[in-house]
Amino acid sequence: MSQIHDTIRAIRWADDHLLLLDQRRLPHTQVDVVCRSASEVAAAIRDMVVRGAPAIGITAAYGVVLAAQAQAVRVSVADLPAAIEPDLAQLAQARPTAVNLAWALERMRRCLQGESGDAVAALCAEAAAIHEEDIAANRRMGELGSALMEAPVGVLTHCNTGSLATGGYGTALGVIRSACAAGKVRQVYADETRPWLQGARLTAWELVQDGIPVQLIAEGAAAYLMQRGAVDWVVVGSDRIAANGDVANKIGTYGLAVLARHHGVRFMVVAPTSTVDLSVPDGQGIPIEIRSGEELLRLDGQPLAAAGAGAWNPVFDVTPASLVDAIVTERGVLREPNREKILAMMKSD
Ligand code: MRU
Repeated sequence: MSQIHDTIRAIRWADDHLLLLDQRRLPHTQVDVVCRSASEVAAAIRDMVVRGAPAIGITAAYGVVLAAQAQAVRVSVADLPAAIEPDLAQLAQARPTAVNLAWALERMRRCLQGESGDAVAALCAEAAAIHEEDIAANRRMGELGSALMEAPVGVLTHCNTGSLATGGYGTALGVIRSACAAGKVRQVYADETRPWLQGARLTAWELVQDGIPVQLIAEGAAAYLMQRGAVDWVVVGSDRIAANGDVANKIGTYGLAVLARHHGVRFMVVAPTSTVDLSVPDGQGIPIEIRSGEELLRLDGQPLAAAGAGAWNPVFDVTPASLVDAIVTERGVLREPNREKILAMMKSD
């Protein structure tokens, strides 16, 4: 497997504990948080030590392994599913929007069904498989998404969708990695992504680490950049795709999609099928996480806004399918996505 443009791994399993690169401290400090229990894993997800939809799912899967390791010394294999259910419930509640979390927990639950041997070993293998499959899916999506681009392209991305947000390689950033490796990219632009600054702190760091030149822009600069003709594709990830192709992603994504349509710029969403939620008919049914206004009012603990100001901090928004030119999953490319195309793709495994 080529390591070109792909050196970062943020989630590492170590037999009886989980190491998570602390994304709150990047880019200036590289330090791991050690999780030894499911509740420590849930706290790490809630507090954004680890973030990004696929990374949250993978992390939760390892959290289930930690829960099982703790319970396996006191209950039988048959009683293990019930014994760890409170841990699964706690993990499920850590963050609401990324459906990859519920998807991974359900897969870990299914793995235990009918297991009569070494349940902990089975769960460990399942978590590792979820992790490995995610990287493989990202590499496949990278190839498929890159193939849609005609060189030389200007690409604008939002939030962080790279190795830090996934098992490795990345979704939207995986497409950008692939397109760069193919020599197709004229310039990568990254939105700084207020208020948590995933673009400025994480995407820029990843791309610099992997030798891909990047220019940061303030979100407010995106319209002007497009008006100048510098952007051919907006490429983003997703936290949940509804059955009709509506896409939840980091706050600001919807605005970029509107701008892209106005300026004739194409808009690509890159996400594995673990991000598709057929139980939600359209974007209105996707729960949108509202985080503390402190994330807007302060930066690194220092007051940023006028004292006394309030803040509203929804951290995701929903882009209607009609504004999406292509959804790329590991199963293929859906141009002009709609319910029929999404359902056909999900049946096609
Ligand atoms: O709040 P975050 O940082 O977890 O939000 C992450 C995003 O919105 C990503 O774009 C999304 O998870 C897709 S990442 C592969």
